[in-house]
Amino acid sequence: MADKKKPIAFFSHEKIETNNFLMIVLILLVVAVGGLVEIVPLFFQKSTTAPVTGLKPYSPLQLMGRDVYLREGCYGCHSQMIRPFRAETLRYGHYSVAGEFVYDHPFQWGSKRTGPDLQRVGGKYSDEWHRIHLHNPRDVVPESNMPSYAWLETALVDPTEVAPRMRALRTVGVPYTDAEIAGGAAAVKDKTEQDALIAYLQVLGRALTDQLAAKAAENVPPAPPAPAP
Ligand code: HEC
Repeated sequence: MADKKKPIAFFSHEKIETNNFLMIVLILLVVAVGGLVEIVPLFFQKSTTAPVTGLKPYSPLQLMGRDVYLREGCYGCHSQMIRPFRAETLRYGHYSVAGEFVYDHPFQWGSKRTGPDLQRVGGKYSDEWHRIHLHNPRDVVPESNMPSYAWLETALVDPTEVAPRMRALRTVGVPYTDAEIAGGAAAVKDKTEQDALIAYLQVLGRALTDQLAAKAAENVPPAPPAPAP
């Protein structure tokens, strides 16, 4: 009990542990420093900031499709983020890499998979398949519980919305040229929201998958020798 009377040294741990306010402030400080050390370098690392080879900003039509995807809440059931696990890569294809998302503002990684991941769906089906599927998913996948999006077939994309969206993306670093922005409205004239959404779906993940396909084609192994008679 004699200890109790001993004054607490200024730089002692006891001082922190017996003072709620000091404890909270110091915990916040430690967490903040730890967080910053992990997060800040990501803003400057090439592997997270440089686009993968062949990645292009969304065309005006794809961009409007991206916005239909957002408006309809497709991200509520679909992720666009393939994790580097065998079970995922076998099912969906190459895992996602940061350089695929540098022009995505906001990115559509999602966190809920009622339906499958869509990151590598680009080129997986024909446009016609998507038309049937979006009209009524059960026509191509009988057990599907995905809602039908039939109205997208008749709703037209509003061309006046394109340029402001492209300009907004340019302010956050997407390299659209003035000419591309000026031509944006013409590029979506008379297109339906379904056309736009399918254009978007068909480009998902393609920069990387096309690159991998080209590499695979280069390394085609020579035909095996004919078996001995
Ligand atoms: C209620 C959840 C739900 C919502 C919302 C939803 N989907 Fe789906 N989606 C599914 C399910 C479940 C499947 C798997 C069965 C099928 O193919 O229909 C699927 C499949 C798909 C596929 C085929 C994927 C593949 O690899 O076979 C595409 C493409 C797709 N959805 C696009 C969309 C788009 C675009 C939207 C928004 C307009 C959307 N989904 C909204 C649940 C949903």
